[in-house]
Amino acid sequence: MSSEGVSRPVNAMPRAGAVAPANDEAVRAWDTVLYERWKLNRDVFVGALAAVTEELFERYPPPRGARCLDVGCGFGETTQRLAQLVGPDGFVLGTDSSPHFVEDARQEAADAGVTNVEFEVSDAQTAEWEQVYDYAFSRMGTQFFAMPVLAMRAIRAALVPGGRLRKMCWRRKEESALFAETEQVVKRFLSRPEEYEADTCGPGPFSLGNPDTTRGILEAAGFDDIELHRHDFDYFMGHDMDEALDAMLAIGPGAELIRLNGEYGESCRPEIAAALADRYAEWERPDGSILGRASVWVVAATNPG
Ligand SMILES: C[S@@+](CC[C@H](N)C(=O)[O-])C[C@H]1O[C@@H](n2cnc3c(N)ncnc32)[C@H](O)[C@@H]1O
Repeated sequence: MSSEGVSRPVNAMPRAGAVAPANDEAVRAWDTVLYERWKLNRDVFVGALAAVTEELFERYPPPRGARCLDVGCGFGETTQRLAQLVGPDGFVLGTDSSPHFVEDARQEAADAGVTNVEFEVSDAQTAEWEQVYDYAFSRMGTQFFAMPVLAMRAIRAALVPGGRLRKMCWRRKEESALFAETEQVVKRFLSRPEEYEADTCGPGPFSLGNPDTTRGILEAAGFDDIELHRHDFDYFMGHDMDEALDAMLAIGPGAELIRLNGEYGESCRPEIAAALADRYAEWERPDGSILGRASVWVVAATNPG
């Protein structure tokens, strides 16, 4: 199978299945404001997770020649990496609910000459993939489903009997100092308004932080051999203070408070940035880069068939 290499208008992007109504808001948020902000700060968001992702692949390598699914693939960095790991006899389908992310992912893979990947727009919660996959992967792409059991069941149904799920998600917010402390600083200036117009990303990035919740969802979705491994690491927030502030005030719990407060939130941004710079100064390295502590779950499970 080959990737297309032809740029289509985003609104003409084929969508496999409908977006679940309960996911409408989160899917819209990820295709608009969060897509734009992720793209602007991509070097930080993706770069910070590169080493921990490689450790996941070392612990749980996809077999050579395997057929893989990359759920919530974003710009497809991991889709391309999986394609490399499985080799030319393997295949990877990168799938994401955001047409904008998928359009970019498809173009980048084509530009890179990667021929054993394809990309598709789909809401994992309503997806009906063929049951041909040996290995389903997701990096931070499974926390945003309104009905996570349905989504994980759809992913399990795509796996052949004995097929593996390997994914990464954030542990609880309190367990990643860079998010918890950023939010604490922002809360000195802003609180969550009772009413707001901005779209949110549904259950949010920390929705799978409780290990019992994650295990329970996977069990209810029919998975076996469920393992959760805690992984603590230094998250690279930026080469310098400005880059770190831009990234942390773009996406994440502190950024969301600003966004939900609309114009008033924006008016507080300079003061918030100054207060955060004071807090982050403790995390500054001799080369000026900023590293905050973070913690993820590396999750493994099997489709018993
Ligand atoms: C935090 S980003 C991670 C992107 C990518 N996996 C990475 O590590 O760079 C979350 C991704 O999940 C996607 N997503 C959110 N809800 C989804 C859904 N219901 N079905 C499929 N993808 C979804 C978003 O569009 C976004 O690309």
